[in-house]
Amino acid sequence: MAPLLEALVLDPGAEASLQEQLWLGLKRLIQRGTLRPGRPVPSSRSLAEDLSVSRNTVMATYDRLIGEGYLESRPRSGVFVSASLASVPRHSDRPRVHPAPDVGDVEPLLDPLPFRPCQPDVRLFPLALWNRLRARRLRTDGTRLLQYQSNLALGLPELRRSLASYLRDSRGVQCAWRQVAITSGSQQALFLLAQLLVRPGSTVVMEDPGYAGARQAWLQRGATLEPVAIDEQGLVSPTALDDLKPALIYVTPSRQFPTGACLPVSRRLEWLAYARRRATWIVEDDYDSEFRYGRPPTPSLHSFDTAGRVIYVGSMSKVLFPSLRIGYVVLPHALVEPFGALRSVVDDHGPFVDQAVLAAFIDSGAFYTHIRRCRRHYAERQQVFLESARRAGLPLRFSQTDGGMNLLGRLPAGVDDVRLSRRLRTRDFDVPPLAAYAFRPQPPGLVFGYTAFEPKTIRHEVQRLSRLLSTRVERGGGVRQ
Ligand SMILES: Cc1ncc(COP(=O)(O)O)c(C=O)c1O
Repeated sequence: MAPLLEALVLDPGAEASLQEQLWLGLKRLIQRGTLRPGRPVPSSRSLAEDLSVSRNTVMATYDRLIGEGYLESRPRSGVFVSASLASVPRHSDRPRVHPAPDVGDVEPLLDPLPFRPCQPDVRLFPLALWNRLRARRLRTDGTRLLQYQSNLALGLPELRRSLASYLRDSRGVQCAWRQVAITSGSQQALFLLAQLLVRPGSTVVMEDPGYAGARQAWLQRGATLEPVAIDEQGLVSPTALDDLKPALIYVTPSRQFPTGACLPVSRRLEWLAYARRRATWIVEDDYDSEFRYGRPPTPSLHSFDTAGRVIYVGSMSKVLFPSLRIGYVVLPHALVEPFGALRSVVDDHGPFVDQAVLAAFIDSGAFYTHIRRCRRHYAERQQVFLESARRAGLPLRFSQTDGGMNLLGRLPAGVDDVRLSRRLRTRDFDVPPLAAYAFRPQPPGLVFGYTAFEPKTIRHEVQRLSRLLSTRVERGGGVRQ
């Protein structure tokens, strides 16, 4: 019981209710195997007393977990962790699994492990409001939203309009709404751009280290990649590339992924001049620039472009939630039609119900309120993470960044970050090594995401991490046994 109570720390001041916290805590303990299949859980009376919560809270939580298949009630014996969970494999090297015992052979749903990068806190999302807007939109426009609309491969005009004005106001992207195409996540935008602009064997310039999703899109098309180094300011100047004629240049200028660097204006202008000279495209991936905690956001690279060479890509995955699968791309006029034609071959068009709800969500102002709310929480979480890491004496030097969702922690030279990350994965940490994003050898580092985790969890998990990491990370990426 003592370890159970230690693991179940409830915070009456937290945003989530005590019942929600208890539910999550117990679920995690079951998923981790701390509470084993077939074993009894404490009676609702004794757990309520130990945790100083009402017995109703515990009983309601048990009921919910029983309904979800985590617990089972045995008449006259009490409540037990479902014996059937024993057959759910507990691979220590994969994320936690939500069992779905009554649905049979379905794919598992996953919760992010600490400190998986790029994960928004989906609990902050105003789902009730979203559902109200959804019901309203279906009431007013139901049948039309449910039809094929083959002429709308680029997305619902109302959403394209809402996004165009959001991008103009927030990111300095000057565009007509007809230049905005809705895609299934920004990943589909990258994939379609690869089909449109890259030929097998042509060169794509990419940041090194850089975003693996983009790398895969170019490689899948048969591109030859030309990695360009990153320094503390982001992508270095294109001085060594004058002999190249790249099909496109992929960059994350507002927050370099994964180092977090923000490209200074002087370098932005150099790259724009290079793209103009070489008559090539720059694909600007602006995936999380809404999350600025200090100064106001740097305008997009697109806003500096006077020659129409920048293709701007954005995503709702971070500002709202990733499974929405809505991204967008702002296309130069000449590419709008071919992009739409290609998109319609892939899947005709995206789901209109979600697009209509998103347009209403943006137009109602809730979108901006949500971004501000996330910003507040994420700013606090970044601080809590850095402060906890400092106090715990983690052997990592964190990058300077005043925003975003991730922090790059540099390890002492000689540590094998791949090995260390793999070891940490066996202890339920998901912190990818810098090497996973790189083409060429890099100084060792681990990438931490902090946004999906509440401050209490961050403190707890940083403590746990510090116990695992040797006070001096030994050569070879050792984790204390
Ligand atoms: C650099 C970068 N771009 C884009 C995305 C978002 O991709 P999507 O919109 O396909 O979810 C991510 C997500 O992690 C990312 O790290």
